[in-house]
Amino acid sequence: MKLFIDTGNIKDIETLAAIGIIDGVTTNPSLLAKEPGDYRQNLKKICDIVKGPVSGEVVATDFAGMIREGHDIATIDPHMVIKVPLTRDGIRACKALAGEGHKVNVTLVFSAAQALLAAKAGATFVSPFVGRLDDVATNGMELIREIVDIYDNYEFKTEVLVASCRHPIHIVEAARMGADVCTCPPSVIDQLFNHPLTNIGLEKFLKDWEKAQAVKA
Ligand code: E4P
Repeated sequence: MKLFIDTGNIKDIETLAAIGIIDGVTTNPSLLAKEPGDYRQNLKKICDIVKGPVSGEVVATDFAGMIREGHDIATIDPHMVIKVPLTRDGIRACKALAGEGHKVNVTLVFSAAQALLAAKAGATFVSPFVGRLDDVATNGMELIREIVDIYDNYEFKTEVLVASCRHPIHIVEAARMGADVCTCPPSVIDQLFNHPLTNIGLEKFLKDWEKAQAVKA
């Protein structure tokens, strides 16, 4: 399963990309709005760092505007993926942009029916938001199971990109269900590394080693 970082913060992306386990980046207007500087230049820097798919989202809500902004996003770098919302105009824009050979990520997906539309429109990625579903007392991971089943039934090529991940269990469950990608904020990726027994075990190994060296000296 691929792991994307869900942020527009260049420093966080540099830090995690240096470890070598990051396959791509997702951004959205809220995330990019938090960062200083020009968003196009920031997206270009992100592409140079990760050299994998980087989603940049349109803010137009009409078909013509989405196509115009989508074309502009695609000129930033060959790694750019055009992100469009799951609306009628968004699905129409997805179909048109995918038809021109662009990679499209359909975002703000909250139902299996919506995910079916994204696949039919030729999306490269579909982004169901599991955390935001959990927030309204609906099991977000159940939606992932439904989408994976439907896509498998018809061999849709669209990759299931689990978005709005809030904790490591979302990621582990997504991997067990066969989702293609998880995108997570840097804090959640950090949590994946942590286990108290690793820290305790490492501390003991190092202490034992030091003791043995002292005896030999
Ligand atoms: C996905 O591409 C979105 O940027 C994202 O995962 C939204 O997550 P949130 O619900 O934590 O804002």
